[in-house]
Amino acid sequence: MRKISLLFFIIISVLVFIQAKPQQDLNIKEDIELKIDALLSKMTIEEKIGQMTQITLEVVSAPDRKSGDKLVIDEEKLREAIVKYNVGSILNTGNFANSLDNWHEIITAIQDIATKDTRLKIPVIYGIDAIHGANYTLGATIFPQSFALAATRNKEIVKKGAAVTAYEMKASGIPWDFNPVMDIGREPLWPRFFETFGEDPYLAAILGEQYVKGIQGDDPSKPEKGAACLKHYVGYSAPNNGKDRTPAWIPERVLRDVFLPSFERAVKAGALTVMVNSSEINGIPVHSDYHLLTEILKEEMNFQGFVVSDWRDIINLYERDRVAETPEEAVRMAVMAGIDMSMVPFNYTFYDHLLNLVNGGKVPVSRIDDAVRRILRVKFLTGIFENPYPIKSLAANFASPEFAKINKSAADEAITLLKNDNNILPLKKGAKFLVTGPTANKLSVMNGGWSFVWQGDDESLYPAEKNTMLEAMQIAAGNENVVYSEGVDFSTDINMKETIEKAKDTDYILLCLGEKPYCETPGNIGDLNLDRIQLDFANELAKTGKPVILVLFEGRPRVINQIVDDMSAIIMGYLPGLEGANSIADILFGDVNPSGILSFTYPKFPAGYTTYDYKPMEEYDQNHFTPQWVFGYGLSYTTFEYSDLKVAVDENAGKIDVAVKVKNTGKRKGKVTAELFLTDLVGSVSRPVRQLKGFEKIELEPETESTVHFVLTAGDLAFHNRENKKVIEPGDFVINVGGLEEKVRIENIKL
Ligand code: BGC
Repeated sequence: MRKISLLFFIIISVLVFIQAKPQQDLNIKEDIELKIDALLSKMTIEEKIGQMTQITLEVVSAPDRKSGDKLVIDEEKLREAIVKYNVGSILNTGNFANSLDNWHEIITAIQDIATKDTRLKIPVIYGIDAIHGANYTLGATIFPQSFALAATRNKEIVKKGAAVTAYEMKASGIPWDFNPVMDIGREPLWPRFFETFGEDPYLAAILGEQYVKGIQGDDPSKPEKGAACLKHYVGYSAPNNGKDRTPAWIPERVLRDVFLPSFERAVKAGALTVMVNSSEINGIPVHSDYHLLTEILKEEMNFQGFVVSDWRDIINLYERDRVAETPEEAVRMAVMAGIDMSMVPFNYTFYDHLLNLVNGGKVPVSRIDDAVRRILRVKFLTGIFENPYPIKSLAANFASPEFAKINKSAADEAITLLKNDNNILPLKKGAKFLVTGPTANKLSVMNGGWSFVWQGDDESLYPAEKNTMLEAMQIAAGNENVVYSEGVDFSTDINMKETIEKAKDTDYILLCLGEKPYCETPGNIGDLNLDRIQLDFANELAKTGKPVILVLFEGRPRVINQIVDDMSAIIMGYLPGLEGANSIADILFGDVNPSGILSFTYPKFPAGYTTYDYKPMEEYDQNHFTPQWVFGYGLSYTTFEYSDLKVAVDENAGKIDVAVKVKNTGKRKGKVTAELFLTDLVGSVSRPVRQLKGFEKIELEPETESTVHFVLTAGDLAFHNRENKKVIEPGDFVINVGGLEEKVRIENIKL
């Protein structure tokens, strides 16, 4: 009997242990935790608080730098930061991208002081916004922005691109990337729309996970790997008025169904750091939100890396939001909410206030120890304790032709053909072109914000050997066949009349419209319509009777309803990066068959934006879903047919297997993305009319067929009910792939 109860006790204990074990311990390594224990036991409170302090490079470099100047470190200020204030992290670029050599000098100077002249020799962790490539290093491989990468629907490309970014960032001596943006792009006015992987929570989660894997690999301490930073946790991308850093109202259920899953998946993939949303949700500035930062992120998701604030956002609790009565109270609120590192970034006020708070007993040392443990963990895991210096041998492959090739394939697969009247594209060689419009002859307009400078608008820093759209056309069509005239600027007439005249002697007009580069608050707009002059110019050009092929370079879907019918072909160029123009030229002449599909719904009207996963009442009675082009839309030069959809529910295994045949029925080889949409027909809260739950991109030769497989698991069927609890409700579900549908009944699949 005693034996039985002992056995019973052991079984129960094992079960309890398994239950209590956190979801994942990806970032906990016993040996590292011991090293952290040893370091923490030696650290003074000042040294600990220093680790939690992040300043910008401008604080420790010579002032008044101009474009083209080398960045010069101010040794005395650097010493003050690291030796006097024990600063644990530095960020940013010093206003302009630096050369590889300059970066090496900067990082070496920083680490020399940190690892030679401080008591505990803790290296500084340097962080950079490598948003679409190592965009703050001159000459780097600059990729399509994320909303374009998402249009590729190609997981491998996203991962490879991130791996190149990590390589070039590490070649520069920097181990920490402030990317991926895991915000969900559901407000097209928002000037950071292009930094997202689009409007869909599932797409963003899958691609974010790939990005994290590309940056961190299976071991972030490898020479060519580093740490990712998921941002901006959470709900930043849906401001009520569309402007950057303005309030959002997001009920917890929507937060959990739409905005949190991408973060959750990337945390599970092992992402080492998270940056906080600069604005407020439901009246609470996220930098002071204990529920979101500690209860959900650190406890529910079991995030073991560290949380960094965004730029000045702790002092903003006092200066801007007025939820704190004093600057010191702002620091207390943020640290107690769960922020581990403050991107201060211009001074040492955070350090002084936090020291006072700890000394006055208002912030417990246990919270400081937790924050510092997390920061040191990331420092160990990224390998900077072993080697804090730039690995100069990595320079060998920096911006290599091999990386440019990956970049080109990303742009090839991103560019999205939206209209192709009478199959006017692809074009035959030998025709004559007028190339015109404000985005025809600049590299900055194809790269957007976060390119060599914050706003991406310093054309002089772009590599001259890369092609603008005009240059790519001159190469592809032959110089003698291309006439160029600017026509209009973004919002003003330059030589519209004269340009229209020139169209008369050509066969086609390649009209390049869109937006000037921008990011964050300077990119705010009050009207989603494309600028009037650009629309008028397009209409006037169409009146010449020459076919107009419209190419859009823009960071968000500007409304072009007024000109769509007049255009013979429309190509969404997004912000396709440094190879983008070559890709578009290849698509125009048929050397590349387009395969990009929209990562967002392109609106027809400037108001009433509706995403593809709208609710039933949004297409009920007199309501109609009438986008210009829906999420997932994109044409090819060939045709595909779906057949034989097979759905097998296995309730015991908790999964649904789906298979479908896809055939290339046209005459060209082409790539196609099979997308699986799920509809939960009845729910205790209203369910979206469809939701993406799987996508696979394949390539098919003409007249060939292939079977695509998907596996849906419990998580794919779940949503948050009236009590904000994650549930699967038994009932009918419809599975749709390529227009084929099958209804299945789910009785007993459990989460
Ligand atoms: C942006 C972040 C960025 C940080 C550092 C902030 O203004 O919101 O996305 O990582 O600056 O440059």
